[in-house]
Amino acid sequence: MVDDMLRTPDAVRDAERWTAHNYHPLPVVISSAEGSWLTDVDGRRYLDCLAGYSALNFGHRHPQLIAAAHDQLDRLTLTSRAFIHDQFAVFCRELAQLCGKELVLPMNTGAEAVETAIKVARKWGYQVKGVPAGQANIVVAEGNFHGRTTTIVSFSTDADARDDFGPYTPGFTVVPYGDLDALTAAIDDHTVAVLIEPIQGEQGVVVPPEGYLPGVRRVCTERNVLFLADEIQSGLGRTGETFACAHEGVVPDMYLLGKALGGGIVPVSAVAANADVLGVLKPGQHGSTFGGNPLACAVATEVVRLLATGEFQRRSAELGERLHAGLRELLGRGLVAVRGRGLWAGLDIDPALMTGRQACERLMERGILAKDTHGSTIRLAPPLVITAEEIDHALAQLAAVLDPAASA
Ligand SMILES: Cc1ncc(COP(=O)(O)O)c(C=O)c1O
Repeated sequence: MVDDMLRTPDAVRDAERWTAHNYHPLPVVISSAEGSWLTDVDGRRYLDCLAGYSALNFGHRHPQLIAAAHDQLDRLTLTSRAFIHDQFAVFCRELAQLCGKELVLPMNTGAEAVETAIKVARKWGYQVKGVPAGQANIVVAEGNFHGRTTTIVSFSTDADARDDFGPYTPGFTVVPYGDLDALTAAIDDHTVAVLIEPIQGEQGVVVPPEGYLPGVRRVCTERNVLFLADEIQSGLGRTGETFACAHEGVVPDMYLLGKALGGGIVPVSAVAANADVLGVLKPGQHGSTFGGNPLACAVATEVVRLLATGEFQRRSAELGERLHAGLRELLGRGLVAVRGRGLWAGLDIDPALMTGRQACERLMERGILAKDTHGSTIRLAPPLVITAEEIDHALAQLAAVLDPAASA
């Protein structure tokens, strides 16, 4: 097709004309998708190697999830929590069972799950632990990403996320990620929780040193502090286990879930914890009009059922081996570091070659969609339905992009 017949340039210009520039998307305009593949407005196909930042763990339009959504759309979509609907208990029960916890509190976005966890931890601190009023403190990690609310960006260490959004919410202490001594030293009698990602996604898929998560668990138990694990990006099969914490046999006091819980169809988030923690909330103290709505529950119940089969965790573990083996081959051939677990990888490109953004643009030209983060890092998080051949295809395109002769 000749260039001036393409629809993409106008569609990109239109999107920029009518929105705040709070994102810097790749110049591709998607109009349909299935499984691991996306099609743009000009009919070009791309292998999705981002999966909506892990919101599409089951691929685009998974038939079981689409069927559940259609079925629910035909019956009941919203009641608010003023009334109980028939999808609510089944979702909460099955998610609680998947998490091995007694209770669930559904919300919508990941940031709302994080806000829920912060509120519950503070209330637990005052009512159960006996922290003096207004003194509760939560320990968090440098390089964190937990969302975009004013409270959450208050403890971000990323200038873009935080600067000029003050005044900031007090009550957070930031310590280096992966440093158990620093975390232990930061805990005092007013500490109600430690909030961390078991693998830091936005930071570039940073896996903490072995023993860190069990150490956090031990210290939290010893000091009567809640361990809040933000598994919004790392959880629900992404790393080869249902939860990234499970790689080291760690069970936090609360799981924070989102992204893939909505099956790539609706925003669904939740926190899961036992009754001694979530039981501190009483009517009127927290909620959301859309949280736990019938459509969300119907889709998310099927997500939980897909995960209960173990198939997606298995695929992620097995295919993740293949992905990481292929990426390791590129170390010294354009890549300077590779991190991650399962079908989740952070790659640092040799900055002398190109930026992460340039690499993603060149990958896009070769039919692979991925996204850069922090300068020279690219994150790969394909749908867990990706095949071995598709992984090999993505690796071959990456190798070609990194080869200076090919990408000159
Ligand atoms: C670990 C983590 N927590 C929380 C969030 C916020 O989720 P949402 O964008 O749905 O608010 C994200 C989003 O990237 C995340 O990666």
